[in-house]
Amino acid sequence: MDKVTVKAPANIAFIKYWGKKNEKLRLPANSSISMNLSETYTLTSVEKDKTLQTDRVSIDGTRLNGEALIRITKHLDLIRGMAKEKMFLRIESKNNFPRGAGIASSASGFAALTLAASKAFELNLSEKELSILARLGSGSACRSIPDGFVEWKVGETSESSYAHSLYPPDYWEICDLIAIVGEDSKKVSSTEGHSIAESSPFYKARIAGMPKKISEIKKAMKNKDFAKFGEIIETEAVNMHTVMMTSKPPLFYWLPETVTIMESVIQWRGQGIQSYFTIDAGPNVHVICESKNTDKLKIKLKSMHEIKKVFINKPSIGATLI
Ligand code: DP6
Repeated sequence: MDKVTVKAPANIAFIKYWGKKNEKLRLPANSSISMNLSETYTLTSVEKDKTLQTDRVSIDGTRLNGEALIRITKHLDLIRGMAKEKMFLRIESKNNFPRGAGIASSASGFAALTLAASKAFELNLSEKELSILARLGSGSACRSIPDGFVEWKVGETSESSYAHSLYPPDYWEICDLIAIVGEDSKKVSSTEGHSIAESSPFYKARIAGMPKKISEIKKAMKNKDFAKFGEIIETEAVNMHTVMMTSKPPLFYWLPETVTIMESVIQWRGQGIQSYFTIDAGPNVHVICESKNTDKLKIKLKSMHEIKKVFINKPSIGATLI
């Protein structure tokens, strides 16, 4: 097969994945729920090349080496093993958003890579198989495979830990306005963060509360009860960051600007513009609203000097060949 190109969305977790019960297999400590994002994505092109002695990977124009390349080559080795292939790949990947700044670039990146490489090696994998494989590259990547609103079931084994679509993108007209305050790569990667989550005295309570939280958010999504949904996602984000900040060593992903935006969202809500925040492992704030409020919030966010850029996302389909 010639060049294969895939587009895969980043996703925002409403119920977060933080902590693993098996690091090697990236089996999460809890189920998580997310939405794929229409305007923040990775485009990855993959080509088999028999002249190569190693995989050749460039991301946003920079050739990868060291640890970053090893992580990708290991993932490709899995796919080569499944396809009984030996050939190395020439890979070019582009993100339309800053990497490592709390928009899940590893999610869209590994989802795109998994689908593209499996197609280049002429494997015809099911959505479930692709999701499992993407998870082995980066946990949250398994949620960028299916469409729309997605649940990653915790699973007890590698075969039972994958994501599936709860609702298609057009099920609910909600938006994620990502307010970018910092574009630097984070100092502590999510992978390192997961590994120290258990050292927080609040971790056990967080995990114990998950089944109830998951069933409550699913009910709110089913009823399209935006107020209930918003309350759950905001509390959940603060809960995860509490675990992060109380881990040993502590992880502070927020910047002063992050807190300013969080407070503004609460204030706007008091004024009748219903919106809620959530934050992943970085300083940027995801402001979630119903689409009827998108324009008002866009104006508010764009007028804040703390904010460098705003990405406006609708729910999106998952990884696709283009
Ligand atoms: C805070 O999927 O990046 O964004 O499996 O080690 O690659 P690895 O971790 P990763 O963790 C994402 C953490 C999060 C929450 C979430 O997306 O659920």
